[in-house]
Parts: sequence; structure tokens; C-alpha cells
Amino acid sequence: DPGDGDAFAASQDLLLRTCVVGAGVMGTGIAYTCACHGLPVRLKDVRASALQHSLQEMERLLARRSDATGAAVRAQLDYQGFECASVVIEAVVDNLGIKNKVLGEVEGLVAEDAVLLSNTSSLRIDDLATALQRPQNFAGMHFFNPAPVMPLVEVIRGRQTSDYAVQTAVKQALAMGKIPIVVRDGPGFLVNRILMAYIHAFLRLLAEGVDYQRIDRVTEAFGWPMGPAYLEDVVGLDVGTQSCDLIFASYPERMPALPRNAFRVLLDAGLYGQKGGAGFYLYRPGADGRPE
Ligand code: 3HC
Repeated sequence: DPGDGDAFAASQDLLLRTCVVGAGVMGTGIAYTCACHGLPVRLKDVRASALQHSLQEMERLLARRSDATGAAVRAQLDYQGFECASVVIEAVVDNLGIKNKVLGEVEGLVAEDAVLLSNTSSLRIDDLATALQRPQNFAGMHFFNPAPVMPLVEVIRGRQTSDYAVQTAVKQALAMGKIPIVVRDGPGFLVNRILMAYIHAFLRLLAEGVDYQRIDRVTEAFGWPMGPAYLEDVVGLDVGTQSCDLIFASYPERMPALPRNAFRVLLDAGLYGQKGGAGFYLYRPGADGRPE
């Protein structure tokens, strides 16, 4: 909806002024969650096609809700309105150089007291902070996929992050209906240290020749909402493989390098998971449910 300008700029509650950079799966889910909780949001990407896809996805999610009230999402190719943002959530590709560039760009546009938050899953907050003039106003805010549904959010305090930035991130998470936990900086933060140990065990089983569909069936019968192969499809093979590579390399004794990583094999074959229509499983276009 391009008509939110007034609501965004005129909002007296500064916490309501949220900007999101990056209209991929996570940025879309984060912006949608803000809007559902009455926070007017601006969503910026460099690609018009990504914004269009993101808006379509939000419309699809909205159509499934019985109560479709909420604030507007304004999708844009420029940084219009960022000067009055109180919080900017960066959700671009998990690459240090690109994130440093985007965070530096954003910092040059926003107010002095605006808080920048990165949705990185595997980069160090301290490494991202090196690009910034005001590292005290920067923290991690790690959402889980699908962001509209998963309740937990990790707020990551870097070495230079101020209490103000942590408190702002916690308030933002609460305003979005999430359960925040504040964690220290370090490879994998808290959740991915646990999750990646499980994923490592899964990859070892695959390397030993066990069928991934059987592993999914067993873990789901055990009571987990989705097995590891399906989960990886939902997370995205690109995002998942990168997280694995970084986190396995950080804990070589607990998660030793694998001779043949099945995620890498799929990725090299151009399979990105659910968002690309195929990963471990095949997906119908537009479907977000279980593969048939
Ligand atoms: N976006 C928005 N809403 C979605 C959605 C999506 N992509 N997928 C499902 N939903 C909603 C559905 O609309 C439904 O809402 P309703 O209850 O209001 O109707 C609700 O979620 C439940 O969906 P379904 O009934 O279709 O399916 P399930 O009961 O299987 O639940 C799930 C889906 C919540 C995704 C569940 O399978 C789950 O919890 N899976 C585990 C996900 C997980 O572990 N994520 C973490 C990934 S790791 C990560 O992100 C970290 C990164 O650093 C790698």
C-alpha cells in the first residue's frame, strides 16, 4: 500500500516507525509481522521484482486470515522515510561485505538515535559493527523462519551495543508479538548452536546412506513439527548451507567438516528449497504447505 506516508511520519510513538531492508523470505516475513501488529513499515530492496514478489506473498498470507486488519507496508526501491525511522531491521543476504555496505548506507541516512538491527543468522555482530560510526546503536535481531509464526527472537548484544539499543530491540520484538531473549555475540548465537548440532547429525546420517524421507518421518513421529530435510527446504538451501559452513567451522571438534555435504550437492544443482520450487522435495508454485 503506497498510501501509508502520513501514518509512518506522523506516528507519535517512535517505536512504530520501522523500516526493513531486504525483501527476501525473512524481510517479507518481518515486514508482514510488523504490519499485522499495527506497526506501519517501509520495506526497501534494490530489486523491483523482489518487492513485487514480497507484496504478493503478503497478500497471499493476508487472504488466509479471517481478521485482515493491520498497518500498511510500503514497498520501495529507495530509502524514502528512513530519516524518521526509529528502528531499521536489516535482512539482506547473509554476506559480510554486503551487510557492511547496507548498514553503512542506512546509518548515514537515519537519525542519530535510530537503532539498526541485523537479522544475521551466522555473522558476528562485532564484525558487522566495524562498518558503523555509531556501533552503540547496533544489535542483532535474529528471527526464525517462518518469521510470522515462530515466537522466539534472539536479540544479540555486541561488544559495543548500548543498553538503549538492546532495550529498543526487545521492545520492538514485544511490539511484534514475539518472545525476545538477549544473548551474547558468538558463532550461531544460542539457537543455531543447538540447531546446527542436530543438522550436523542429519548430514552425517545422509552421508552414511540413510534416506532423508525416513529421517523426516521418524523425527516427525517423535513429535517435532518438521523433519530436518523439510526444515532445510523451508529455511532455504542457500541460507542453511551458509549457516552450516560458518557454524561447523567455528566448532570443529563438535561438528567436524563432512566429506560430502548433501546441502551443497543440492545447491550446486540449483535447488534452493521451497522458495525455488524444489529442494529435498518438490513444491507446487505458491504452495507453502507440506510437499505432496
Ligand atoms: N508464513 C506465514 N504463516 C505461515 C507460514 C509461512 N511461511 N507457514 C505456516 N504458516 C501458518 C499457517 O498459516 C497456520 O496459521 P493458522 O494456525 O493461523 O492457520 C500456522 O502457521 C500453522 O501452519 P500449518 O497448519 O500449515 O502447518 P504446521 O502445523 O506444520 O506448522 C510450522 C507450520 C509453524 C512452520 C511448523 O511446521 C514449525 O514450527 N516448523 C519448524 C520451523 C522451524 O524450526 N523454524 C526454524 C528454522 S531455523 C532458522 O530460521 C534459523 C536460521 O538462522 C537458519
